[in-house]
Amino acid sequence: MNQSARLAVFLSGTGSNAEKIFSYFKDHPSICVGLVLSNNLEAQGLQRAIKFNIPTRTFTKQQFRESDEVLDWLKESEITHIVLAGFLWMIPINLIKAYPNRIINIHPALLPKFGGKGMYGIKVHEAVKAANETQTGITLHEVNEKYDEGKIIFQATCNVLSTDTPELIAGKVQALEHTHYPTEIEKWINP
Ligand code: GRF
Repeated sequence: MNQSARLAVFLSGTGSNAEKIFSYFKDHPSICVGLVLSNNLEAQGLQRAIKFNIPTRTFTKQQFRESDEVLDWLKESEITHIVLAGFLWMIPINLIKAYPNRIINIHPALLPKFGGKGMYGIKVHEAVKAANETQTGITLHEVNEKYDEGKIIFQATCNVLSTDTPELIAGKVQALEHTHYPTEIEKWINP
């Protein structure tokens, strides 16, 4: 039988991946999004959550790193799994311990290449271009104490043409993200 799950989605910005996730799990028989959390009060992703009637919470760095407040919210909402969708802060150890192997992230490149601190947004695609890569893609991985170093769960690739700009590469990678993130979360929960 399928395991039932309540997801918390953490985001810091636009939330285009988060919206794909909200939409995919909206009427799902066993998986739902129970809470959306952000460090950024202005994050567009929070408005997307509200449109889907999903409760939202925001927090400061101090609340996140130096208290169990966020963990308490997750417990109150009976969250079973955490999904990072464009969330820029490192996950503190209290959350990693409370959700072992139950936190997933998406990175817009083929890890272990082009990962690590500071590698986010267009910087990733600029680095791919500068390295003359012929392929790039997405990586879904579990989250541990280090940036972008947890177990790799899934990768998908796309070609990089010599004429591609970083912006064009970003568009191809985003298309892969939107196609695969929701369905791969589902498979991660119910393999
Ligand atoms: C995505 O490229 C994702 O891989 C990275 O952050 C970006 C978030 O984009 N972790 P969006 O906010 O979902 O549009």
